[in-house]
Amino acid sequence: MGTINGTTEKQSEQTPNTLPPVIPRHVAVIMDGNGRWAKARGLPRTAGHHQGKENLRRILEACVEFGIEILTIYAFSTENWGRPPKEVRILMSILNMVLDQEVNKLDQEGVQVRHIGKLEGVSPHLQKKILQACEQTKNNNRLILNVAFNYGGRDEIVHAVQEIIRDGIPPEEVTEDLISRYLYTGGLPDPDLIIRTSGEFRLSNFLLWQGAYSEYYSTPTYWPDFDKTELLKALWAFSHRRRRFGMTDEQIDKLDQS
Ligand code: IPE
Ligand code: IPE
Ligand code: MG
Repeated sequence: MGTINGTTEKQSEQTPNTLPPVIPRHVAVIMDGNGRWAKARGLPRTAGHHQGKENLRRILEACVEFGIEILTIYAFSTENWGRPPKEVRILMSILNMVLDQEVNKLDQEGVQVRHIGKLEGVSPHLQKKILQACEQTKNNNRLILNVAFNYGGRDEIVHAVQEIIRDGIPPEEVTEDLISRYLYTGGLPDPDLIIRTSGEFRLSNFLLWQGAYSEYYSTPTYWPDFDKTELLKALWAFSHRRRRFGMTDEQIDKLDQS
């Protein structure tokens, strides 16, 4: 546990009841550990996915309450197709359920739903519902909910390169900014904070480009148990981080003062 700005992450974990002074604009979450949550209770993995869905509702409400502007959630990766077909079917049916049960409510709450990832490979029926949810909520601005479904960071970069070539962009016009604009997240700021639940320390193909300077937070808590207090702990840890973007502490001090 390192000392960050004179405060350790351990200390920050002790103040979970209030909001920290600095709130990240864009929080991304790798919602991991549903299967292990279920296994620990002698339940089928799918019970963990259902519980994970319930938890998402709670965390979304907390994000709105905390003034987070953008929440990006990793719901299904391009690699998750490799899971047993029955589990894949359940994950598809959970998204279907969320779209049926939640979109009107999200719309009323001012949440703008966006999809990041490939529609290709998803059933036409589900594709239609995803597009409808995005269309219905497109003018909302209380919180942007980016749903990474059939998403892979490498696929996203390949897709961006293909589109750039298709648009006939000359090589000298290909810049970091241009690539950012061609990603599924085009137009949105990069995530400030990436949270991964269930104790894993890897990105699993999530926001590879956008996460270049994101702060990373990992907790052993499984996603279905990651509640508002856990989110506050993550936000406190973030508020004690010093983001240097390649510069020195002295330079950052000067920027803070100006
Ligand atoms: C995350 O939980 C949900 C998805 C990947 C869809 P997991 O299903 O990966 O749960 P663990 O990691 O096996 O516990
Ligand atoms: C990442 O979790 C994908 C999602 C949370 C949707 P995984 O459980 O699929 O990642 P790995 O396989 O442990 O790297
Ligand atoms: Mg997992």
